[in-house]
Amino acid sequence: MTLNMKVEAMNKFHTFEIPTVIKHGIGAVMQVGAEVKKLGVTKALLVTDPGIYQAGVTNPVVESLQEAGVEVAVFNKVEPNPPVRLVAEGSKLYAEENCNGLVAVGGGSSMDTAKAIGVEATHEGTVLDYEAAEGKKPLENRIPPLTTIPTTAGTGSEVTQWAVITDEEREFKFNTGGPLIAAHLTIIDPELHVSMPPHVTAMTGVDALAHAIECYTMKFAQPITDAVALLAIEYAAHYIRRAFADGEDLEARYGMAQAAMLAGLSYGSESAGAAHAMSQTLGGIIPVAHGQCVAAMMGPVMEYNWKGYPEKFARIAKAFGIDTSGMTTEEAAKASVNWMYQLVEDLEIPSLEEQGVSPDMIERLAKEAMKDPQTVGNPRDLNEKAYNWIYKRCFQLTPKTV
Ligand SMILES: [Fe+2]
Repeated sequence: MTLNMKVEAMNKFHTFEIPTVIKHGIGAVMQVGAEVKKLGVTKALLVTDPGIYQAGVTNPVVESLQEAGVEVAVFNKVEPNPPVRLVAEGSKLYAEENCNGLVAVGGGSSMDTAKAIGVEATHEGTVLDYEAAEGKKPLENRIPPLTTIPTTAGTGSEVTQWAVITDEEREFKFNTGGPLIAAHLTIIDPELHVSMPPHVTAMTGVDALAHAIECYTMKFAQPITDAVALLAIEYAAHYIRRAFADGEDLEARYGMAQAAMLAGLSYGSESAGAAHAMSQTLGGIIPVAHGQCVAAMMGPVMEYNWKGYPEKFARIAKAFGIDTSGMTTEEAAKASVNWMYQLVEDLEIPSLEEQGVSPDMIERLAKEAMKDPQTVGNPRDLNEKAYNWIYKRCFQLTPKTV
């Protein structure tokens, strides 16, 4: 029942490319120096955020680089929803310090900032000139050797071919990307994830799950992204509550780190859907935490979407661990929606209202979401009215249908 492909998917000329070498293991961070040196880097710009830096999470990375004879310059100013001006500041430091490589340690914001600095280091103009949009320039050059070291299990940016940067003037988060922007290497060490507090584990974990679900069900999904997305869903569903309840459960941390990376392989090659179109446009207007915002939207989005691809939503129910043997396809698909609502509740994800979003904004937010390119691939057709309905469900202003 999972093999009925969409016509849209079969008509598309697909690519699946992994420019990133993936290395992982408990304690893998000790290998960073030797691995970065192999990439030919003699001076690296370490790109991270102040919290990670002050907590000492970057210390073993810096030590390993220095032991291998790689010099390190530090750019520790990354902020959530990284804006164009932050990228410019990092690029300036990269040039002043004569760096020839990048090492990003952190979540999606740090990894995306490093990618964008890489774009500016190898191209004329600013990263804004290379927005993935009509009338903008395509990337022409490979960024300098970039190593990504994720400290959350969420964005999958360690392996994706995208950076999401905020244009503060337009109040808009834009994408730039393609194979030229992907990291050369990622080192995934679940030990770096044990210090993540439960609410961060929750929001980043549901974000990873959302990448896999949205990519698996999108109209243009291809079998190879389906393969990685489905396993990402299984791992995340199996481990997310454990990682939330006990941050030091290394098996759960390992499983979630793999889930995020696998989801990133799917999301990074194809696209997502309504939850990411909504959260990305909302995030350009209000500085919400991306994963938390996606997590609050996932139940309503799945409630809207299951009718667009019931067989795949039924398959997701199985991947969640639900016994669907006595269920019809429709019942199993609806069960997947209710499972997501329950997960978001169990993980104590704040509602959109609690995140500072007012229901008065629904009209505007629905309009904005339509502008996001991820709207196109959503499994069920979207228009402003549909986005209005999903947002109303987020605020519980309209009854639940499953
Ligand atoms: Fe996301």
